[in-house]
Amino acid sequence: MSNDDTMRAIGQDVLGGPEVLKEVRLPRPAPRPNEVLVRVRAAGVNPTDWKHRETGGFLGEPPFVLGWDVSGVVEEVGIGVALFEPGDEVFGMLPYPFGHGSHAEYVTAPARAFARKPAGVDHVQAGALPLVSLTAWQALVERAGLRAGQRVLIHAAAGGVGHVAVQIAKARGAYVIGTASAGKHDFLRGIGVDEPVDYRETDFAETVKDVDVVLDTIGGDYALRSLRVLRPGGIVVSILPVGSPEFHEEAERLGVRAVRMLVDADHTGMKEIAGLVESGGLRATIAGTFPLADAAEAHRRGGTGRTTGKLVLVVD
Ligand SMILES: NC(=O)c1ccc[n+]([C@@H]2O[C@H](COP(=O)([O-])OP(=O)(O)OC[C@H]3O[C@@H](n4cnc5c(N)ncnc54)[C@H](OP(=O)(O)O)[C@@H]3O)[C@@H](O)[C@H]2O)c1
Repeated sequence: MSNDDTMRAIGQDVLGGPEVLKEVRLPRPAPRPNEVLVRVRAAGVNPTDWKHRETGGFLGEPPFVLGWDVSGVVEEVGIGVALFEPGDEVFGMLPYPFGHGSHAEYVTAPARAFARKPAGVDHVQAGALPLVSLTAWQALVERAGLRAGQRVLIHAAAGGVGHVAVQIAKARGAYVIGTASAGKHDFLRGIGVDEPVDYRETDFAETVKDVDVVLDTIGGDYALRSLRVLRPGGIVVSILPVGSPEFHEEAERLGVRAVRMLVDADHTGMKEIAGLVESGGLRATIAGTFPLADAAEAHRRGGTGRTTGKLVLVVD
């Protein structure tokens, strides 16, 4: 195999800590019908990457290449692709969970996983956004139907999902309450949070009231406790295992809605996100960039759970 038929990627043969990640050379994939081959320029790193690295998660046993976020350039199109042509700059989330593999120089995916990269933002910015933005969009807009004037509580509002969810909620005209440790409250106000809550000092379930929508990004007992802050008819959308069979029963008893969701790749959602970015309503905060070869370092940093904004791998 010549070097032209191969690509660099971050692979792993065993489950474990960041040290199991290593640079490997793999065959460069070819696009199948309705797929595009994208030359990856930047790719966000998400908690699901370090969870899968450690536990195998939905993917089971390695070997595999992780990564769902992509910003890059279309290199080749498969039969049937009409949305894009070679040279187009695109961003998107690979079909979650089984379409993984963006922590590499090239990746193939259905063309409809992508939208055109918004004009005026670079690949690092565009590569940070897809997974967290689709998650926040699908939770707040599609599942909860968030409307102007409603009150929304966003847990971990300084995190990858949270800081994007805050901006989407503000763009829809909502009043936003966001939790973070006190040192991050200036950051929260800067992205539009109306009411920061220090979760280390205050029990949100006791102090926050009359909320229409909660985005639970923590899981465990947070989902159940979040039900208590809702108005009748309100909704908790949890993006993590809720850890309690009572979540749905309690919601029924209180006359509120309880939903668990998993992000799903979506061309229409990506176009909405691109539109928000272009109108100035959405911008990722970049906490750090790392060359592809330093993916393990990005995993180490993200795995602390203290990130403000997003970590991104840059592929030269
Ligand atoms: N179901 C799905 O489809 C889906 C999609 C995306 C993400 N997720 C999951 O959602 C979770 C969040 O993802 P992410 O990308 O936003 O993670 P992240 O960027 O790593 O989140 C880091 C942030 O969490 C905050 N935080 C930690 N514990 C907190 C607490 N108890 N209360 C308030 N804030 C807290 C930290 O702020 P402090 O330093 O102030 O604590 C930090 O800013 C992850 O578990 C991820 O796997 C699920």
